[in-house]
Amino acid sequence: MFSIVSRPSWHLAERHATPELLHGNRRDFLKALGAGGLALSGMSWASAQEPAPAAAEANPLPPHERNPKFADAGRVMTDEKYPLMFNNFYEFSTRKDGPAKLAKGFSLDPYSLEVDGLVEKPLKFDLDQIEKLGYEERVCRFRCVEAWAMTVPWAGVPLAKLIAQCGVKAEAKFVAFQTFHDPKRAPGQKDTAFTWPYQEGLRIDEALNEMAFVATGLYGKRLAPQSGTPLRIVLPWKYGFKGPKSVVKMTFTDKQPATMWNSAIPAEYKFYSNVDPEVPHPRWSQASEKLLADVVERIPTQWYNGYGEQVAALYANMPRELY
Ligand code: MTE
Repeated sequence: MFSIVSRPSWHLAERHATPELLHGNRRDFLKALGAGGLALSGMSWASAQEPAPAAAEANPLPPHERNPKFADAGRVMTDEKYPLMFNNFYEFSTRKDGPAKLAKGFSLDPYSLEVDGLVEKPLKFDLDQIEKLGYEERVCRFRCVEAWAMTVPWAGVPLAKLIAQCGVKAEAKFVAFQTFHDPKRAPGQKDTAFTWPYQEGLRIDEALNEMAFVATGLYGKRLAPQSGTPLRIVLPWKYGFKGPKSVVKMTFTDKQPATMWNSAIPAEYKFYSNVDPEVPHPRWSQASEKLLADVVERIPTQWYNGYGEQVAALYANMPRELY
């Protein structure tokens, strides 16, 4: 749709997208992430990224247990500091270290998730209503289209439980997710190369799959601003861009919804975008991935990010180039 798109990070040379991974060097990683700048301004990573302990205590997650089915992702859990300082959140910045600084203090309080489109009755949920549907923790592998990966404990509610509340009409075939729109607070939304707000979508049967998750917590705490406060969609078998952060609206529809990345660069970011080692991104291989860690390890990518048992049946009748 756009012939000129200002360079998103996954369009930059790989040295910008995953500097630490390429160099395998923690010093370069921190430098590329701007840690030097923070040190100069007298801040530590902890003070820059993490919510004040009092704030976390004032707003704890609901009581919950780890779902035994997703207790072990077969990989070492990623150190919490990485998901807090290495982000893609284009509403705030196209730099990996930008969201932690520029989204600091950002909140969508008082929050509500609006549901409209092909439903019996438009609805609004607050966080409490969503979390009461059945709160659990899941340790999942997460794979970005840029070929970096992490393993993190999300806390939240299966998306199917939320959809069950919505009175979805039989004609609905897709669900579209929409993120907040507030260019004054999120300066990235002034970038005219993209159609804001950030939009994503799923086919209804994908959305009802047990792997589709609505997260409001990470590492036992509320989602930090840069992680998509207060609610994001997590789809562990798809590339990370399919999971929108800071979602405020869900619309049920009979047509495949437009999505931000697919509208911007359709040849590179397809609607389905399931993790697949054999389908390279037009500009890089997806055969392996690099785990965010102090000492970087490169490992083979797994089809559906290793969740084929749960999701492969969804695509049984589709030609592979479509998904
Ligand atoms: N959601 C919104 N609203 N804006 C974004 O820029 N980036 C996506 C996804 N969700 C993005 C988003 C991409 S490309 C990835 S890889 C993940 O969020 C990154 O999540 P993380 O920063 O928590 O690792």
